[in-house]
Amino acid sequence: MTKIAIFASGNGSNFEAVIRYFINSSIEFICVSDKKDAFVLKRAEKLNIKYFYVPFEQTYDFLLKNKFDLIVLAGYMRILPKKVLQLGKFINIHPSLLPEFKGKNAIERAFKSKVKNTGVTIHYVTEEVDSGEVIASKKIKLTPQMTLKELETKIHEIEHSLLPKTIEKLIRKYNILLIGSGAREHAFADKLLKSEYLNKLYLFGANDGFKDSGINLEAQNFEQLAQIARQNKIDFVLIGSETQLAQGIVDIFQKYAIPCIGSDKYWTQLESSKSFAKEFMKRNNIPCADYVIVQTEKDIKKIPFTYPYVIKADGLAAGKGVCIANNESEAKNIIKEYLNGKFKESSKKIVVEEFLAGEELSLISLWDGNTLKPFIPARDYKKLNPSINSPNTGGMGAVCPVETDKKLILDYTKILEKALRKEKAKFTGFIYSGLIITSEGIKVLEFNMRSGDPETQVLMLSLENDLVLLLKNTVEKNLKNTKLSFKKEKSICVVLASNGYPNTPETGNEITMPFSNDVNIYYAGVKKQKNKLYTAKGRVMSICNCGTDSINKVYDYVNKVEYKGKTFRSDIA
Ligand code: GRF
Repeated sequence: MTKIAIFASGNGSNFEAVIRYFINSSIEFICVSDKKDAFVLKRAEKLNIKYFYVPFEQTYDFLLKNKFDLIVLAGYMRILPKKVLQLGKFINIHPSLLPEFKGKNAIERAFKSKVKNTGVTIHYVTEEVDSGEVIASKKIKLTPQMTLKELETKIHEIEHSLLPKTIEKLIRKYNILLIGSGAREHAFADKLLKSEYLNKLYLFGANDGFKDSGINLEAQNFEQLAQIARQNKIDFVLIGSETQLAQGIVDIFQKYAIPCIGSDKYWTQLESSKSFAKEFMKRNNIPCADYVIVQTEKDIKKIPFTYPYVIKADGLAAGKGVCIANNESEAKNIIKEYLNGKFKESSKKIVVEEFLAGEELSLISLWDGNTLKPFIPARDYKKLNPSINSPNTGGMGAVCPVETDKKLILDYTKILEKALRKEKAKFTGFIYSGLIITSEGIKVLEFNMRSGDPETQVLMLSLENDLVLLLKNTVEKNLKNTKLSFKKEKSICVVLASNGYPNTPETGNEITMPFSNDVNIYYAGVKKQKNKLYTAKGRVMSICNCGTDSINKVYDYVNKVEYKGKTFRSDIA
């Protein structure tokens, strides 16, 4: 059961408002006051709520003995020391728009200063007076006709509705459905499970390596899955991979009013059609390489670029649809192969681009329909091995953070945010910008409409924010007030693949690996049979770590994993 303590020193009207709001809930409230004769204690008695007189000096011992999910300061006229603040999650309500008018008599001081706006703020508590991250605030206009009394009444009215609603949001726990089968989804699951805001984690399509992380749902199609999600009171859905997005899964969940982290079918075209993405960039002056569309072998003659140039399948190709042609015969061969259906329908149309030289970055951002929040830049290793002619894969490893000029990233984010706003992209989800820093500045190589795999594996280990809260803020279109923070240390991921990957991976080989606390293991292509683990796909698992010695820890462990045909890159990070 959720337990909440409300600390107050005086009147306690906020205390009463909270109690009345939650009257039929199962939350257990108690009232604490540092003043023996505070009126709030009388209110508690009348409302039949347990109450305690706890002198200020005894607060630490009291909280050591009594654990609460949340401690609310509502007119508690004391500064709590760090030692006490470490014992729980504390919030405070203050009658001004912080950081204006911290401290006592805030309403009166705001009134006398004749400010245009004042209001109410609810914030986390630190050792400094009325500081700490703001959780909620509400503004009121101060008109010249308004008297102090009227202002006070207005402020209290706002407090009595804002405080209970904010508490409700803070203690609410969420049911989340995570869709997808790979190491990226395993990393998401791992991070979601760390959240105190998670009620139940539901999975759809999880591989045998992380099935145990949640409740597995079965469905024949997305329509049925959405109905099951409804029955299970899923609050929102996180879709990991582009395949389902391009099939329109989000449009179906939207019909059932279930919010999704993922783009609808229309906006997924930024990934599923390279030509759609190019036109979007052109319309919005987003810097990118020049391009032409090729649909027949004859079109080769019209390609205006000098060699090398880049050939891309227009549609989805699991990260493998990009080739570089160094001369005419290579170009002809690649284009022929593509047009003949190397990637089925996906390569029947081809985008040919000028070659850009520079440092590549993966910039993954969250978009809430109005605000775009970038994560720290990451890098993935696309080639099977470092040699020039090595084939592209879904990704053989990743690292973050990648040292980059922060201003470049901010400027780019502003351009993309403006474009998405202008084009009224209403979905909520991840946008991955594959960027290159050329001598002419930053340019976009491609968009993906999901967080990358293996970039997600490193980013989830670096991310300090609570993922449930972050995604909840995204679906609630509240990213504007969300601050992202990341660990400073290097986060790395080495992908272990099967022999023959990416073309014809060998599968069914038994895997043996020791237990380790030093690394995070995210499974991709594995099958479990009678408690033994076998390879089942091209990419088998991601070995990851974030910390001061991450590279050594990861490679030490990589060497301990054994299966026939183990394939990996030794040069990650
Ligand atoms: C409120 O104005 C609150 O913002 C401030 O103290 C006052 C408490 O009022 N921190 P009450 O005791 O809840 O009536």
